[in-house]
Amino acid sequence: MEINVQAGDISGVRADAIIVSLFEGAGPPSGATKVVDDALDGLITRLIQAREITGELYQVTVLHTFGRLPADRVTVVGLGKQEGFVLDRVRGVIAEALRALQKMGLQRVASVLHGAGQGGLHPEAVAQALAEGALLGLYAFDKYSTKKPEPQIQELSLVAFDPAVLEPVSRGLSRGKVMAQATNLARDLINEPANYLTPSEWARQAERLAQADGLECQVLDQEQMHEMGMGALLGVAQGSAQPPKLIVLRYRGDERGRKPALGLVGKGITFDSGGLSLKPREAMDAMKGDMAGGAAVMAAMGAIAQLQLPLNVTAIVPATENMPGGRALKLGDILRAMSGKTIEILSTDAEGRLVLADALCYARKLGLSPLVDVATLTGACSIALGPVYAGAFGNNQELIDRLLKAGEEAGEHFWAMPMHPDYKELIKSDVADMKNVGGRAGGAITAAHFLANFVDDTPWVHLDIAGSSFSDKDKTYNPKGGRGMAVRTLINLARSLADD
Ligand code: BES
Ligand code: ZN
Ligand code: ZN
Repeated sequence: MEINVQAGDISGVRADAIIVSLFEGAGPPSGATKVVDDALDGLITRLIQAREITGELYQVTVLHTFGRLPADRVTVVGLGKQEGFVLDRVRGVIAEALRALQKMGLQRVASVLHGAGQGGLHPEAVAQALAEGALLGLYAFDKYSTKKPEPQIQELSLVAFDPAVLEPVSRGLSRGKVMAQATNLARDLINEPANYLTPSEWARQAERLAQADGLECQVLDQEQMHEMGMGALLGVAQGSAQPPKLIVLRYRGDERGRKPALGLVGKGITFDSGGLSLKPREAMDAMKGDMAGGAAVMAAMGAIAQLQLPLNVTAIVPATENMPGGRALKLGDILRAMSGKTIEILSTDAEGRLVLADALCYARKLGLSPLVDVATLTGACSIALGPVYAGAFGNNQELIDRLLKAGEEAGEHFWAMPMHPDYKELIKSDVADMKNVGGRAGGAITAAHFLANFVDDTPWVHLDIAGSSFSDKDKTYNPKGGRGMAVRTLINLARSLADD
């Protein structure tokens, strides 16, 4: 789909459908909706009076114009109540409208900047949100389907009434495209099955991304991991027939090193069977997605390069399968991580923290600070927060606050979780420096404390996206499947650090 910008009155635009909107309970149509309503001899007003159009959030009504306007159809989409109207609704509204129009087989559509007039939002922000909502909402993972694809919307025009806002609107559109395409790249990686996306294949894709976006890419193999003493990562990998890879992507936007050198670390378990602590079937069938954190940091790197942000960022993805092969980790085994710390293995299914431990050590060795890790780490976090919020843990309140804000702007919700030191007791081991599980109670917090052992005092945030990385059905701009959770938050965080 091609998205462009034009100035003028949407009622004069020729298209298969134009999209206008309405707040719930706001009385008669105003702005562009009123102009369109007048051209339709008050049809929208009459449907409002008949309570067929209410403005309820995500309500989509398609009306034929029968020649009364240059466009063949008018789509009225509900924005919900005006109080509590937020930018994220713009993403959802355009996604719902476009999905309905695409199902009707339409190809050329145009939309007003919903919420920019009466809603009080900035046209640049609205344009960005429209681009994001459109590209994210129409995303489909259909490369393995041999069915003939349905026709797709070819063109979306964002119509600004006031030509003076064309420049900010174009800026918002460009940024929105980058943000959405990065999110969709992460979704592709998450949705890709584990028999195709092995650690080796992922490393090849990282090299291709680096080529395309001008990043440096380095891939450490098993032997190099050995030399660096990455016993925790190697321990997880040893049960699999697929060799592990540590993928490193570097972006240099600040040659003089004046800004912080942001380090992004993403859990990259391309399939989590649980290992010898084997998962039951219901818990295993989504585990090709246990690399969503790694996908998020890799996708964010591409966007950061495209946006040419003035800071240095390095992404590290420890990529491996977690399998119960003949050489697999056994319960009671003790591993030595790159930092020298020892870990008693009491569940081979708590593998994410093991691969992250060595990746975080490596990040510190590279001198990166602050650090952000993203991981589908614990079922406990999913139980605690459900599918909407992801958990944010850390050792630096300023960084946590910055991240939460970056998330809200992205339409991705993070909730700060407690890291009281008393929880540390739960992962004490009798025979090693720590054990890799702390029991069911507080499982997301003990996992975060485990990771904290490997960052020392480097400012760090850990994002547990286990509950929020998948959409179980089509939900506004998140179609069923991998969401690409945290991609846009990481990009916004990088923008925020670069702006300082
Ligand atoms: N990959 C899982 C966590 C997960 C669960 C992600 C559900 C997405 C959806 C992780 O490796 C795991 O198995 N964690 C265990 C830890 C436990 C053994 C301490 C869990 O959460 O049960
Ligand atoms: Zn696991
Ligand atoms: Zn896992």
